[in-house]
Amino acid sequence: MRANNLSEMVGNTDLLKIESLSALTGCNIYVKCEYQNPGGSIKDRAALQMVLDAQEKGDLKPGMTIVEGTAGNTGIGLAIVAKALGYNLQVVMPKGQTIEKERLISLHGAQLLLVDPCPFKNPAHFYHTAKRIGEENADYWWANQFENLSNYRAHYMHTGPEIWQQTEGEIDVFVSVCGTGGTIAGNSDYLKQQNENIKVWLVDPDGSGIYNFLKNNEYKSQGGSFTEGIGIMRTVDNFRQAKIDYAVNLPDPDLITVAHYLAANDGIVLGSSSALNVAGALRAAAASGPGKTIVTFACDLGERSYSKLYNPDFLNEKKLAQPNPDISALFERYRAQAMDNVVVV
Ligand SMILES: Cc1ncc(COP(=O)(O)O)c(C=O)c1O
Repeated sequence: MRANNLSEMVGNTDLLKIESLSALTGCNIYVKCEYQNPGGSIKDRAALQMVLDAQEKGDLKPGMTIVEGTAGNTGIGLAIVAKALGYNLQVVMPKGQTIEKERLISLHGAQLLLVDPCPFKNPAHFYHTAKRIGEENADYWWANQFENLSNYRAHYMHTGPEIWQQTEGEIDVFVSVCGTGGTIAGNSDYLKQQNENIKVWLVDPDGSGIYNFLKNNEYKSQGGSFTEGIGIMRTVDNFRQAKIDYAVNLPDPDLITVAHYLAANDGIVLGSSSALNVAGALRAAAASGPGKTIVTFACDLGERSYSKLYNPDFLNEKKLAQPNPDISALFERYRAQAMDNVVVV
């Protein structure tokens, strides 16, 4: 394509078959390569749509500053879009996310405010801090990716239709992690409108409450995860639009196995949420049986997770190092589990 600025390059990403896992499972497992977006992640789509809709509504006017609370990728996406369309950007991020994302936000010319991580009820939480900055400054506009349905619309209007066209309607299972829920909501809503038989799987890391919320209607989590940008302990408007059939909770060792196997075997070096997506696709393949076409996302690449997922020191320190990741053993375990511990929503 020929683009006039980077914002025009968001979307229209490729769909890539993962040959090794397709052969292992007897399913066709695809990842949509969201790292091809100009900011390197799926969150460019939400960033662009939020800005375009706010411009159209007149909430965001030339010369204003965008402010947003983010685990990083939405900040990078907004930084790209803000520069391309002539806005300033103030990002509020919790400390402890990978240094790679902090650096990218600054490199793209945004102001970065790091706050201490804390529970959502604390007014110092990155979400409330961004909201407060937006309220206290008349020339600031708060993007609010959690409640702003432009996020869902980005996927309903673009990502979902792209998947439908790229698979020529041959899709049986759609798998996604969830942060704000914009991705799983927009795609599941669109895809189920095309074919109500498509099954939607949500895959949730440890430390997130969505799995238990869908199981028992209460936000409870166990353990923790080093994944970033996914998992949540409250219900937000974007997630409310999701059409989910099954939910599963998978621990970090599973995504580490997938990530290191794909890097060594297929040359695909996934970020941590993407590795969890692919582990979810394996889990769904094990439960569904062979012959299905399964689509999930490569939300970003491993270069953004290097200091954790691909860093032997970090994995050793967390007692997560795996000298020989055994993908067949993981798939056999998933096959033995079948629908055990899968929440039917
Ligand atoms: C790497 C990565 N994957 C997945 C997600 C989750 O996407 P969504 O917010 O649409 O649920 C995020 C969100 O920030 C992310 O940064």
